[in-house]
Amino acid sequence: MIAVTAASGRLGHALLRELVRQGQGGRLVAVARDPSRVRVPGITVRSGDYASEGSLATALAGVDTVVMISAPVAGGTDRVPLHRNVIGAARASGVRRVIFTSIAGNGVERDTLYGPTQQVNRATEDDLRGSGLQWVIGRNALYLELDLAHIRKAADTGVYANPGGEGRAPYLTIDEIAGAYAGLAMDPDRHGEVLNITGETLTQAEIVARACEVFGIDVRYEVISDEACIGKFRQLMPERGEAVARMLAGCFQAIRAGAFDVPSHYAAATGRPAKTVRLMLEEIRDAG
Ligand SMILES: NC(=O)c1ccc[n+]([C@@H]2O[C@H](COP(=O)([O-])OP(=O)(O)OC[C@H]3O[C@@H](n4cnc5c(N)ncnc54)[C@H](OP(=O)(O)O)[C@@H]3O)[C@@H](O)[C@H]2O)c1
Repeated sequence: MIAVTAASGRLGHALLRELVRQGQGGRLVAVARDPSRVRVPGITVRSGDYASEGSLATALAGVDTVVMISAPVAGGTDRVPLHRNVIGAARASGVRRVIFTSIAGNGVERDTLYGPTQQVNRATEDDLRGSGLQWVIGRNALYLELDLAHIRKAADTGVYANPGGEGRAPYLTIDEIAGAYAGLAMDPDRHGEVLNITGETLTQAEIVARACEVFGIDVRYEVISDEACIGKFRQLMPERGEAVARMLAGCFQAIRAGAFDVPSHYAAATGRPAKTVRLMLEEIRDAG
């Protein structure tokens, strides 16, 4: 059996749907802290909270492979112990293999405001390597949908601004990322691999230009300082707090520093290269 934890989010749903599409519905277990939030029909859904190792151990009974989706970056929560609960529960319930959805980064990001967020992923990767379980670590691209939404919104003013500058970063849609994890989850022989689930890398000006071409909008890219970017996020999403504003600005700082300019292992993970950003943008546009 294959279990997906934190299954009720965007990546979880995309992965569940892809596994069902590939005929795996009968051996699939979605684990969520609120099972009613999993909206994929015809699969087993069990209750499991990252804050409770016991609940997860019950949920993982009879499971061979777990895809552990990283916990969300929420104000103040230490995610390392949450991930440890999943790993501990996997061991306790006889799971053979855990696949972790981490984030790309060549280490340069340590010295940016994004560093503390990334350290959580790397700490969990270390925990997994030392767990005695079989493991696969996927280091994901940035979600294309998130930045695209901001670029499209920027058509209101005609300017999309951040501190990313000339740094190159990989962008994939959540479905494209999920496709890679579906393949890894379905192949029982994959283990002991760290794979960048990424594709082509683009500068900020390039991604803005692609979005303008595909969506017929008129936006130009401008570089702003890290402080100005923090201020922008403070204003845009005050409810998410100062730490998230700094982390999001830090992500662009990390882009500028080249932290996400990593080689793609997408073909090694899946047997085919990742879709181009243009194609994924066209797919988003055509899906309405
Ligand atoms: N690559 C990127 O650009 C990028 C961008 C954003 C996030 N991420 C990372 O990738 C992860 C997956 O992305 P996503 O888009 O699927 O995130 P998402 O839509 O925010 O989903 C997060 C999931 O985590 C679950 N969760 C939160 N606290 C939990 C707990 N204590 N126990 C069990 N489940 C819990 C949520 O459950 P509920 O439905 O109950 O809230 C939800 O299912 C994120 O959590 C984050 O670590 C990556």
